[in-house]
Amino acid sequence: MAQNTVRQMATPDTEEVRSIIEGLSLPEKMISPKYFYDEAGSRLFDEITRLPEYYPTQTELGIMQQNIDDIAALVGEQASLIEFGSGSSMKTHVLLQNLHSLAAYVPVDISEEHLLASAGALRADYPHIEIIPVVADFTKPFDLPTPAIMPVKNIVYFPGSTIGNFEHEDAKALLEVMYTEAGDGGALLIGVDLQKDVAILERAYNDGAGVTAAFNRNMLTHINREYGSNFDVDAFRHDALYNQDEGRIELRLVAKTAQTVQLGDATIEIDAGEGILTEYSHKYTLEGFKELAASAGFAVERVWTDEDQLFSVQYLVRD
Ligand code: TRP
Repeated sequence: MAQNTVRQMATPDTEEVRSIIEGLSLPEKMISPKYFYDEAGSRLFDEITRLPEYYPTQTELGIMQQNIDDIAALVGEQASLIEFGSGSSMKTHVLLQNLHSLAAYVPVDISEEHLLASAGALRADYPHIEIIPVVADFTKPFDLPTPAIMPVKNIVYFPGSTIGNFEHEDAKALLEVMYTEAGDGGALLIGVDLQKDVAILERAYNDGAGVTAAFNRNMLTHINREYGSNFDVDAFRHDALYNQDEGRIELRLVAKTAQTVQLGDATIEIDAGEGILTEYSHKYTLEGFKELAASAGFAVERVWTDEDQLFSVQYLVRD
């Protein structure tokens, strides 16, 4: 049942290796967070979302459940729900169960396998909703499919505070893509993590069971396997610190001792104590996010939060 699937070509290996080497040649070494997600990485990420220290997932789900009638009223009837991401989360179920007579559900993800598996499962659960997966890199504009039922409007859904994993310029560019995909009369329903006590933040990304550490380190295992490099994975420790000035958690892999790594035709020297940046997770104030949204043409129409103001779900409309 892979009808209506739109595919986009993957990047060839040599180009991937070149871009990893490029990142490791910068004054501050970095590796793209996209390498987190091999099979083991996806499993570890699922585990992160269930950790007691990792408040975002349960808090966002609670906000959705508590305010679903309100959300459904704003979305209205016969909307097309376009999720940026594969839509395998509990939050997606809350929407698919409670939104009124959706025209279609369109999950958009770059990972075809994961996308089609989750779309298949959703088709079984919601046989009355047309489900049209789109394989695409959602950071760039892509063509939307035409559902059998003509949508009244498009609602872009972007949960998980994934927006926080983008630097401000990239976050703005992504919001602009969402603005375009939402189209006339469209809206964006988005999960945005909020600034809070540093101890709570750092604990969320540095859990006691070491799952986030394993997730971070697995990136090197993944790259070793995929591209034949020889990172000594155990020689790196997980580091997650909140940068107050930038308002973000910064994930790094820090070399415990000096390392020499062979990757493609490059030899990479890493000093003892040197870090490789693997991901940012920006935390916003409501005011700060409002400004970012406005820079992409969105006005904040509604904000729902939990009682401790840990997390927010926001409904943005095209200005
Ligand atoms: N976007 C979420 C966050 O930043 C989930 C996430 C993405 C995450 N990458 C991560 C969580 C790396 C832990 C570690 O919190």
